[in-house]
Amino acid sequence: MDGLDTLKAKYLAAIATAADETALEDVRVAALGKKGEISALMSGLGKMEPDARKAAGALLNALRDEIDAALRARKSGLADAALDARLKSEWLDVTLPARPRRTGTIHPVSQVMEELTAIFADMGFAVAEGPQVESDWYNFDALNIPPEHPARQEHDTFFMNRAAGDDRPPHVLRTHTSPVQIRAMTEQGAPIRVIAPGRVYRMDMDQTHTPMFHQVEGLCIDRDISMANLKWVLEEFCRAFFEVPSVELRFRASHFPFTEPSAEVDIRCSWEGGQLKIGTGDRWMEILGSGMVHPKVLKAAGVNPDEWQGFAFGMGIDRLAMLKYGIPDLRAFFESDLRWLRHYGFAALDLPTLPAGLSR
Ligand code: PHE
Repeated sequence: MDGLDTLKAKYLAAIATAADETALEDVRVAALGKKGEISALMSGLGKMEPDARKAAGALLNALRDEIDAALRARKSGLADAALDARLKSEWLDVTLPARPRRTGTIHPVSQVMEELTAIFADMGFAVAEGPQVESDWYNFDALNIPPEHPARQEHDTFFMNRAAGDDRPPHVLRTHTSPVQIRAMTEQGAPIRVIAPGRVYRMDMDQTHTPMFHQVEGLCIDRDISMANLKWVLEEFCRAFFEVPSVELRFRASHFPFTEPSAEVDIRCSWEGGQLKIGTGDRWMEILGSGMVHPKVLKAAGVNPDEWQGFAFGMGIDRLAMLKYGIPDLRAFFESDLRWLRHYGFAALDLPTLPAGLSR
């Protein structure tokens, strides 16, 4: 059989230069496929004389085997090269530190509670607690708000349901954190310096009110605590909390049954263009009520008013969060909208501390 060497050289060259597995498959079909060149020669064997057929058959078999082997070798070479290229392009550095995914974030109210707890702890205030379902004695009577007092109506109280015939004294959802003053003084006596952050409830709903909101109560009782100490503590707190050299506070004479004298405190802010900002502007936002603890309140908690005196305040935590982080609508705080939470939330493992910075 003439020309087999040429055929062999042609196919071996085509195999060696096939650029990828598709090109290689084309070469295989052209040579060894059903209608391939070598297959055609093999089917021609039938018409030959027995001796010639034997010799030609042996040569063709050898050629077919050689080309088949070359195809396989090239195929695995191309597969290795393809894998190498893929490994190079999909390479990743497993020693890189993980990216923070921020799938879970800290709610601004929790963040602010941590922040203010750190600030007051620095001033020597411990954290006290009380129940959210409170007897009306702690929520009202002990705070010098007797049953007929108009302040009871002003608080828009949620009352707990009592079964018919159950005449135990009524319980309410606490309308402020002030009942914790009574509980803390009853348990610890005087002197005392505590804050009590937590949830409170009133029937109210608009851009700056929700039926559930958060307050932090402050209570400081000793032998010679005065309004001057209250003013310093609040100004010091606001400076540290808002992380600015000074904030403008306005003390307004006011009235609470459980303090005498009493003051409400506003902070200077602006609402320009629907944006809430502190420090500048011609608007004031009320952030707290305060005053000197009324002697009747001390007495109700077993503290002798002839020996002890001090101040108390109740501050709105949600409003502090709105002011510090420029959040215009309080209702969004409690809608559990994931987009809102991702936008306003804080990294989960970054606890605020004074030395490391409160809000990074
Ligand atoms: N409890 C008052 C309120 O919720 C705030 C307050 C607390 C006022 C302590 C004076 C002293 O409005």
